[in-house]
Amino acid sequence: MTPPEPPEDSSPDETPRRDFLSSLAAIFVGGIAALPPLVIGAVAALDPLRRGGGDGGMVMVTRLAGVPDTGAPRKFGITSTRSDAWTTYRSAPIGAVYLRKEGDAVVALHTVCPHAGCFVGVKSDESGFACPCHGSSFAIDGAVDDPDSPSPRGMDALDVEIRNGDEVWVRFQNFLPGREEKTPV
Ligand code: FES
Repeated sequence: MTPPEPPEDSSPDETPRRDFLSSLAAIFVGGIAALPPLVIGAVAALDPLRRGGGDGGMVMVTRLAGVPDTGAPRKFGITSTRSDAWTTYRSAPIGAVYLRKEGDAVVALHTVCPHAGCFVGVKSDESGFACPCHGSSFAIDGAVDDPDSPSPRGMDALDVEIRNGDEVWVRFQNFLPGREEKTPV
């Protein structure tokens, strides 16, 4: 009696090829599925703080009455609409500024130290600013006022506009620390 023929698809030569094609298909399908999150993630990583508003980064901070007439600096949080790849955050905190009146004008200084990014505080007598991390000292206008200060530049001034009579708007932006020149991030 003749033994039965083995089924065609159980040939030992066919099994590795089928496995290879299955793996290839899985890699292809997996790659396609992973593409959208990767692209979205890359966009978010390259531009993690995309701010809304479309006003050149201008943010309304307070009204003139909120800034002391004495010329002393007052700290204000900055909130703005920002979005990442998935969510839009309304009134999300994005930083802080010191505002100070200089005559009729309002001056804005970034609160982040240009040395290494710590938050600068107001000196107890309100005559200027000091950074608690490495001892940089700044005059009331933000200039470095101590030659031993490690900060390579003065505090970063920001553009200010008074709109509608008493609204204080600031062009809020961040700058790279550790450099003599102001380089926007
Ligand atoms: S971070 Fe301010 S002095 Fe170093």
